[in-house]
Amino acid sequence: MYKNECFNLSNSHLKKKKMYRKSIMALSFMLLFSFNTSNVFAASTMNEEELKTQVRTAYAAIAKEEKPCFSCNAGGCGETTGKPSAKEYGLSLGYSEEELQEGAIGADLGLGCGNPGAIAALQPGEVVVDLGSGAGFDCFLAAKKVGETGRVIGIDMTPQMLELATKNAEKKGYKNVEFRFGEIEHLPVEDASVDVIISNCVVNLSTNKEAVFKEAARVLKIGGRLAISDIVTTSELPEEVKNNVYLYTGCITGATKIDTLESILRGAGFGEIRIDVKDDSRSFISKWAPGSRAEDFIASAYIFARKIV
Ligand SMILES: C[S@@+](CC[C@H](N)C(=O)[O-])C[C@H]1O[C@@H](n2cnc3c(N)ncnc32)[C@H](O)[C@@H]1O
Repeated sequence: MYKNECFNLSNSHLKKKKMYRKSIMALSFMLLFSFNTSNVFAASTMNEEELKTQVRTAYAAIAKEEKPCFSCNAGGCGETTGKPSAKEYGLSLGYSEEELQEGAIGADLGLGCGNPGAIAALQPGEVVVDLGSGAGFDCFLAAKKVGETGRVIGIDMTPQMLELATKNAEKKGYKNVEFRFGEIEHLPVEDASVDVIISNCVVNLSTNKEAVFKEAARVLKIGGRLAISDIVTTSELPEEVKNNVYLYTGCITGATKIDTLESILRGAGFGEIRIDVKDDSRSFISKWAPGSRAEDFIASAYIFARKIV
């Protein structure tokens, strides 16, 4: 009798706990996708430093979890419902199965939106810089391609990401990769010392894209190339999306128009500019922040350019 009572009690306690958890989850979901312009998290009212802090906080949390995200963080990395598996996501970004094996040590957090290595045509002996290197996945793939005579430098502004990337490099014993703390708007890299700049889904997070590409041009050698994967807008962002800071840290709101991007690149001293929109990216973008309709106004693109002056 006592046992039964106890069971019933703990059962109803459990039910209450479950209901409580469900309402907390529903509330978080509502907050995440409440595209209300008076939202306290309104990205448009934040200054550059505040937005940068939001970005750093979001990626520090992912680095601490050390769990794959598979959505560039927009839908909340803890939420797995409706998300693809690590392998499915990686293949949809354009990585091969062999490349994904390389990231399986915890370097591939599924935060990219393409595979910059696919357009970089890296050669042995080249010096490569990765803007916003995260846990180091693209750096490690680049390190294999440039070999022992080459060098890869990953730059990131989130200390927890740098720590994780350094730990991953040690695990795999990479000798030609280093990670430096810094902002992509002020690269801790010497002038004209780099052959190739790669980056995966990071420039959209910058509040000053002109500074990013000026810095890229400063550190590249003449003839050096930029080979990045990033998010561009394909139509005007709705106001409620512009105002949602979670969609900013989730690689949606900070996307740039293609012709704006072209003119920034030209202004920074780049030529041979190619911006190839990946129409099939809408399929994985639709799972980043379900309900936001992000796939209707942004897409992933490969951006290639050469430093000509
Ligand atoms: C979307 S994740 C991409 C990480 C990595 N490229 C990948 O594909 O896994 C963005 C990364 O860029 C870094 N980041 C964002 N804005 C940055 C900035 N302005 N300067 C340096 N790092 C930045 C974040 O800390 C985070 O590690």
